[in-house]
Amino acid sequence: MKLKDFGFTDGINEVIGITFKSDQVNTAPLGIIVDDDESDRARVKLYTSHTRENIEREGILYTNVILDPIVFSISAFEDLDSKFFDSLNPPIIKNALSWCKFSAKLTGAFAELTLLDGQICGKIVRAYNRGFAALIEALIYATRYKIVEDRAKEFIENEIYRCKNIVMRCGSRREKMAFKILEEKLGVNF
Ligand SMILES: Cc1cc2nc3c(=O)[nH]c(=O)nc-3n(C[C@H](O)[C@H](O)[C@H](O)COP(=O)(O)O)c2cc1C
Repeated sequence: MKLKDFGFTDGINEVIGITFKSDQVNTAPLGIIVDDDESDRARVKLYTSHTRENIEREGILYTNVILDPIVFSISAFEDLDSKFFDSLNPPIIKNALSWCKFSAKLTGAFAELTLLDGQICGKIVRAYNRGFAALIEALIYATRYKIVEDRAKEFIENEIYRCKNIVMRCGSRREKMAFKILEEKLGVNF
């Protein structure tokens, strides 16, 4: 089993990370860092979060490769509820392209991941969309927004504003809806 079998390439792969606390499902976008996609090893830098707590306790991380902007937007701020899932064991979000199960061991700021299981489950064909890329960029800034100081906030606001222009020009209705969720969650109109 290799990472590339499930849609990962070398570099940073933006996916939805799924962890559990008892039966409670937790979802968060994560950047899975891959050096060699022919291997079964990866890592992820983890800031303080529920994902990190769950990994520390359970030692397991599931991922879903997915291209749904609304799933990314909701997961960046809260957990997807069960109606977003086709299955919870293993956790598969509707329209996911693949799922993977990793063993996850925390070492400092990172979790070292080893692929245990996985499956391809979707066949969506979609042209590259700059609006989707800009939305992901904006969400990364948005998740940092609340934890940075005022001067950094101004920089982040400018970056999100720049991303919004691309989302509005190039994105589909779903990217625009996802951007609206971002604005509602931050309480800022960009
Ligand atoms: C595209 C994207 C990638 C992200 N990658 C990471 C990451 O690699 N590590 C991390 O700790 N947080 C990352 N985040 C931020 C978390 O998703 C965010 O803090 C989330 O609210 C954590 O949720 P949780 O407390 O339920 O785990 C990323 C956010 C986005 C939008």
